[in-house]
Amino acid sequence: MSDFADYGYDICRSGRPPALPANLTQLDELAARQMTAEAYGYVAGGAGTEATMRANREAFDRRRLVPRVLRDVSAPDLSVELFAPTGFATRVPAPVLLGPVGVLATVHPDGELAVARAAAAVGVPLVLSLAASHSIEEVAAASGGGTRWCQFYLPADRELGVSLLARARAAGYGAIMVTLDAVTTGWRPRDLDNAYLPFLQGAGVASYVSDPVFQRAAGGPVLSWDDAMTLMANDRTFGWRDLAFIREHWEGPVLLKGILHPDDARRAADSGVDGIVVSNHGGRQVDGAIATLDALPAVVDAVGDRLTVLLDSGVRTGADVVKALVLGARAVLIARPYAFGLALDGQDGVEHVVRCLLAETQLTMILAGVSRASDLAGSGLVAAALCSPAHRGE
Ligand code: GLV
Repeated sequence: MSDFADYGYDICRSGRPPALPANLTQLDELAARQMTAEAYGYVAGGAGTEATMRANREAFDRRRLVPRVLRDVSAPDLSVELFAPTGFATRVPAPVLLGPVGVLATVHPDGELAVARAAAAVGVPLVLSLAASHSIEEVAAASGGGTRWCQFYLPADRELGVSLLARARAAGYGAIMVTLDAVTTGWRPRDLDNAYLPFLQGAGVASYVSDPVFQRAAGGPVLSWDDAMTLMANDRTFGWRDLAFIREHWEGPVLLKGILHPDDARRAADSGVDGIVVSNHGGRQVDGAIATLDALPAVVDAVGDRLTVLLDSGVRTGADVVKALVLGARAVLIARPYAFGLALDGQDGVEHVVRCLLAETQLTMILAGVSRASDLAGSGLVAAALCSPAHRGE
């Protein structure tokens, strides 16, 4: 069992301040100074007025933990089991995964390769974006023995979809995470003000252009990224019935990312998927959408016993991870913090971010009186509005 909290001791024992801050909320401002305006705007930005991006953070801030004392916390265990309700039980060392982020070569030349190496070094699963700067196979090679999953958009060209799924399986990706909330890109003023869409510059297309079906359809080298985007287009008719197509071509766990409504969660469970991610795409798609932590309890009530519920969007601290688990998420995904770590210090920066988050999660958990991450759910440690019913004597 890993003692993730050792990272803090390691830093202090070394006597050397780390290259990046231990408070991960400070990374954004530091990265802004280092990244190109286009890359920073793309990673940091959200849809519209960014109200949902702010709401994601506010939902974490609004809730407070109510630590318990005098409990045996001598053997902390951050590991959690995923996919048990659907028969694919898999234990991961910590309730944190690296979520899919596209075009990371615009952030750092090593892009997703550095992220894959960092994830494998720390022992957390990486979910590779299909819009990555490096191909499915290149990232698999960098990830080595690390756990990797692949994010998936359903292409209008089904043959291309089959090919991408087959490549992911052959390259050792253990689960497929189907993004539902991005049939098209949201209204993102920061990118519009920079006249920037990375794919139009041939960025973030490595898995597509290396695909034999894509190459055949393109009929030769890609001459115009406008045309290439037509070939890569997501299927806007994508409906519940199409999940059968994905299941038919993927034998392992299937997750749906971008669920906020309990009725959609029920529909997902009825359709036999293994997991869902309560996500608003980091506030990048529907401005004004509900914060994910606010959406989580109703979704967990609806389907928490039938499939694995994960959460992303706004996770920045160990306390955030603990709050999400108390409210019923099995694990969380982070994205912008590791992208900023990558921008600032390559693979080391990503490792630092993940190690800080895991250390803080473990310390928060044990200081709140819980020794196992799997015991956080339903522990009643989160007070909704600064004052829990228990505190009100209810
Ligand atoms: C793609 O998924 C994006 O958020 O840019």
